[in-house]
Amino acid sequence: MNWADSVVPEEEQWIPFYYEEDVTNISNEQNEKAPFVPITIQTLNQLIPFMKLKQSDVLLDLGCGDGRIIIESLLQTQCNEAYGIDIEPEAISQAKSHYKESKLNKPITFICDDFFKTNQIPWNKITVVVMYLLPSIMDKLYPLLKSKLSHCRIFCACFKMSSNIPQTIIRSSSFPDFIEIKL
Ligand SMILES: C[S@@+](CC[C@H](N)C(=O)[O-])C[C@H]1O[C@@H](n2cnc3c(N)ncnc32)[C@H](O)[C@@H]1O
Repeated sequence: MNWADSVVPEEEQWIPFYYEEDVTNISNEQNEKAPFVPITIQTLNQLIPFMKLKQSDVLLDLGCGDGRIIIESLLQTQCNEAYGIDIEPEAISQAKSHYKESKLNKPITFICDDFFKTNQIPWNKITVVVMYLLPSIMDKLYPLLKSKLSHCRIFCACFKMSSNIPQTIIRSSSFPDFIEIKL
């Protein structure tokens, strides 16, 4: 799969930081709605083996952007099914055309909706959640994830939830930073 914009200019990349206070250059307005900053292909290629996806897993990307995490995960692993949700119609339209281009023979459902409000996610099927979102947004997602998920592995790329949320970091790689958390 050739990602048209696989090279993200350095100034547009999110540098891996764990804590909200490190993201001081991102405005409050942007904090309310994570901008579309695609994960770099280099980072994605390290994230995928870190998630250790199995054939029986059903993957959900909260804020899937152009679909690269779920499409590449299904291309590169035995994982057979995925869901992606994004609030931006343009992102979902890109994700759908990338999925078509990929010629993947595995189902991905793309949902254009607000992950805080949607009732379109089949939470009981989801076994792995991946998020590349700012800590402030993950903090707000915490109660929803807590109420909807059980026995689910959750991966945060580059950021983690704030330290006063009762989460257990199960593993973290050195660089780039990925975290598997237990709620
Ligand atoms: C940093 S981008 C990550 C995109 C993709 N996961 C990747 O790694 O390339 C965050 C995405 O979250 C989406 N997003 C932000 N707030 C959202 C919300 N409330 N509901 C659904 N999607 C949202 C944005 O539109 C954006 O595409």
